[in-house]
Amino acid sequence: MAVPTINAAIGTLYSEHVNPQWVRLLELLEMNVRYEHCSGSELFTADGRRILDFLSGYCVHNIGHNHPRVIAALREELDRKGPAMIQSHVSEGAGELGEKLCQRAGGRLTKVFFASSGSEGIEAAIKFSRAHTGRAGLLYAHGAFHGLTCGALSLMGDPFWREGFGPLLPGTEAIPFDDTDALERKLASRRFAAFIVEPIQSEAGMRVPSAEYFRTAQSLCRRYGTLLVLDEVQTGMHRTGPFLALHHWGLDPDMVVLAKAMSGGLVPVSATLMTEAIYDSVYGSLRRAIIHTSTFSENGLAMRAALATLEVLEAEQLGSRAIEAGEKLRTRLRQALDGYEMVKAIPGKGLLLGIEFTAPRSLRLRLAFEAFTRIHPAMFGQIIVMRLFRDSGILTQVCGNHFMVLKVAPPLVVTDSQIDEFVSAIAGVVESAHASPAFWSEALGLARRAIRI
Ligand SMILES: Cc1ncc(COP(=O)(O)O)c(C=O)c1O
Repeated sequence: MAVPTINAAIGTLYSEHVNPQWVRLLELLEMNVRYEHCSGSELFTADGRRILDFLSGYCVHNIGHNHPRVIAALREELDRKGPAMIQSHVSEGAGELGEKLCQRAGGRLTKVFFASSGSEGIEAAIKFSRAHTGRAGLLYAHGAFHGLTCGALSLMGDPFWREGFGPLLPGTEAIPFDDTDALERKLASRRFAAFIVEPIQSEAGMRVPSAEYFRTAQSLCRRYGTLLVLDEVQTGMHRTGPFLALHHWGLDPDMVVLAKAMSGGLVPVSATLMTEAIYDSVYGSLRRAIIHTSTFSENGLAMRAALATLEVLEAEQLGSRAIEAGEKLRTRLRQALDGYEMVKAIPGKGLLLGIEFTAPRSLRLRLAFEAFTRIHPAMFGQIIVMRLFRDSGILTQVCGNHFMVLKVAPPLVVTDSQIDEFVSAIAGVVESAHASPAFWSEALGLARRAIRI
């Protein structure tokens, strides 16, 4: 079935004035549809299709798209014509939101710096940890994704993201994830201000560390005077069950960065939570009252949307839903995909899951697989994404730093029947990858088109 493409005028203007390569990529994948309205886990297109969202905008839509409670809170804020961007006042919602976030995070986290994106949250963590420790070094883990601004990018080793943008921050060093010996060897130099790390590495393929990793990492960081900063931009806001993924291991880090799902997918916002002492190292005197700030931080709409999002997460008990639905999804995926030689594992926690594929062993499949991974290593994953979208109306994507892992991260409001729908669609695609020569010939066709483009 041919999928109608985006309204031509919109696409042309976007290509002319924004990013033509993005339009070409979406066209190639037959995913360039025009979404008209979105609700819960469903997206409705201008040509009458209904798409099931199993990506959640990379963990933005935990409470589902356009939740009425968040929309009502935003309407109320707009209707009252409240203070916006005055820049010389105390933001009304920020204190209340700060208190609620810190209470839920627990431990020693009592202060918050608000900004508008996850990358900005990481930038704050970099500056604040340097200010607090007086050290310049920053440690991060292989496979990490922390954002694409220069500081955050300096904490991501993958040459793909860095190429052409250097030189980046000096003093950053990478260690293997889930390796406390490697961590201790670096920390012992006492050069590092912070170890910035995701509790579960989403873009690296939904990597969950071994049970003791973070508790040991936390005590090592304390021993050597390095701050433990947890990047919960994807894992936070009940995505894996508890409010933060760190709660799985009872951690008490020095800083936590939140963004994405914080404001119901409607207003950009991020929060860097930290201890009182770290905050004081930055804003410790009147002279430094606005030493680190940003025009849009603490803006009224973001604060209102985030407060309403917290209410929804709790009223609808979406943390327990993430655990229960995640277990169901994982069990159903295991049953449906068991025995396929290209399916290696179902990693992740709660509703932050992945399907990890691996190169086939049998000669028949291996030749085709190798032919087109030589063209581009993401090609196999993109065919799966494309087939799910085109044939079953399901939106997914592969992990940004591990192309052989398909993300499975629906909104936390996903229903049991939507889970069944996804499982039967992915089972169909995986079956055709293993059994149908047409899957591979179509894949090679796409690869050739990609090269021509
Ligand atoms: C774990 C993690 N940290 C930080 C970021 C950066 O967030 P943003 O894109 O809002 O700058 C991302 C973005 O995907 C992320 O996944």
